[in-house]
Amino acid sequence: MKQTVKIKKAVLKEYKSENLMEKITLFQPIWVRIFHWGFAFSLTLVLLSGLELHKPVSFLNLNYGKVFIAHVVFSWFSLGFVASRMADALIRRDNSLIPKISDLKLFPKLLAYYLFFRSSPPPSRKYNSGQLFIYSSWILLFLIASFLGLASYWQGKHLIWLWRLVGGFQILRWIKFSITIYLLATIPLHIYLSLTEDLSRLQAMLTGYERNPNK
Ligand code: HEM
Repeated sequence: MKQTVKIKKAVLKEYKSENLMEKITLFQPIWVRIFHWGFAFSLTLVLLSGLELHKPVSFLNLNYGKVFIAHVVFSWFSLGFVASRMADALIRRDNSLIPKISDLKLFPKLLAYYLFFRSSPPPSRKYNSGQLFIYSSWILLFLIASFLGLASYWQGKHLIWLWRLVGGFQILRWIKFSITIYLLATIPLHIYLSLTEDLSRLQAMLTGYERNPNK
């Protein structure tokens, strides 16, 4: 009990004696956080319900119609979150999710760091080259899968040119399935690196703020 009081006093002292706001910087604005957690939640449900529709798991015994509705509804939610992030990026003129050639040139050095050949990662903008590649590919592939999803939803009534372009309904399904597998394979890597690399980044994705390393 005494210990708790001591910690509380120490925090209070620090809060009073120094200007805490000078020590922390806003790293993730509110719309990025709303996008992140909303997209993470709804996309996970889209992927899992998509797999269930593809091959129902017998022991779950879920109603196919309800899973389909969940799949469509959460796809629209995911699209809404992506649209909000795009609007936010345009309003704030934020290009932190768009990879540049200079970012990609640093990828071999980043790989060397992850493979323990370097002690520190190469310098980067807000996100490193690996993150940039993964985040931008997720958004692009998600938009492609959603467009293909609309074509299969309309069952040949609209977007017939898209069926023809990809080479038929089975190929369209195969592309969506491959995108799902890519997302499901890379999301655990993202979660693993978020939890093991720099926890202050995770704190910023929750609270918005990160402790300024220079102060
Ligand atoms: C428990 C699960 C997750 C955790 C702990 C987590 C954590 C994080 C953290 C800490 C960042 C910031 C990285 C940095 O500042 O270096 C981030 C960014 C991001 N994460 Fe996640 N994430 C999770 C799940 C997901 C999922 C499922 C998706 C969707 C596929 C996702 C998509 C993204 C995107 C797109 C960004 C960039 C955000 C932006 O700038 O707009 N995350 N995540």
